[in-house]
Amino acid sequence: MSIEKYAVIGNPIGHSKSPIIHQAFAQQIGKSICYERVLAPLDGFTETVKRLQAEGYLGANVTVPFKFEASKLCHRLSSRVMSMGNEAVNTLTFINGRIHGDNTDGAGLRQDIEVNLNFSLQNKNILILGAGGAAQGVFLSLISAKSITVANRSLDKALKMVTGIYDSFDASAVEYQDLKKPFDLIVNATSAGLTDTALPLPDAIFTPETLAYDMMYGLETPFMAQARQAGAIVADGLGMLVEQAAEAFHLWHGVRPDTAPVISLLDPTRDHSHKKHST
Ligand code: ATR
Repeated sequence: MSIEKYAVIGNPIGHSKSPIIHQAFAQQIGKSICYERVLAPLDGFTETVKRLQAEGYLGANVTVPFKFEASKLCHRLSSRVMSMGNEAVNTLTFINGRIHGDNTDGAGLRQDIEVNLNFSLQNKNILILGAGGAAQGVFLSLISAKSITVANRSLDKALKMVTGIYDSFDASAVEYQDLKKPFDLIVNATSAGLTDTALPLPDAIFTPETLAYDMMYGLETPFMAQARQAGAIVADGLGMLVEQAAEAFHLWHGVRPDTAPVISLLDPTRDHSHKKHST
């Protein structure tokens, strides 16, 4: 039997750690797989997916900037993608010429926060920074908290995100300048860190009990630096990256891999001391 082929498609893609992660998971279950980085031209995502299908690939992860385009190619979307409303897809499964789409980002973030960082969302007030694709992709996964506030530079996008959320759930949209009170969990889902830009955040939103989570990984963003300075607990998005990959691996191989050794492999310094949040 020929080796199973998978890929991660993006633009740019050279930095992607997905091949290392999926290979480490495959090794855990004693399976040999091929998992490649595939650079799709900005106007050539559909052709790239069709080529992979024709070449017998079994699935692909999708990253920036193709997550919305990916959902349009799918013959079937998972219920968690449908319920997001925005239909961003990060995992494609190719089955008999058809494409099934799913999004494992929200589950990955939640798993990292609740299990790896041992931070319960129950009864917590959450602040999400940003209202773009990354924020929309994880928003619903955090809904079991007490409240969610979305702050964004363009208020209209934040308003759109919270509109239509169950009437009974406390979700609101604000501008950065209106942030005054502390939050239990702050998730930075903006792309401001990519350009080393600081967000206009008051220190008052952080307390020593606040978990300040940046969905970026591999760099100390100005958000992380400010949160650290203000005494909060800080985590980057490496755990989320590994957990979303584990969810995709589960979809493809039917086994949920052990993520802890892979997180340690990629970041031996990751601080787990904030397990003081155990309940
Ligand atoms: P992604 O898919 O990474 O979320 P996106 O959809 O372009 O990318 O969204 C980027 C997010 O980062 C948006 O919330 C954006 O704010 P606006 O909606 O107001 O544009 C936010 N962002 C990017 N650069 C920023 C900056 N310098 N200051 C504040 N917010 C920024």
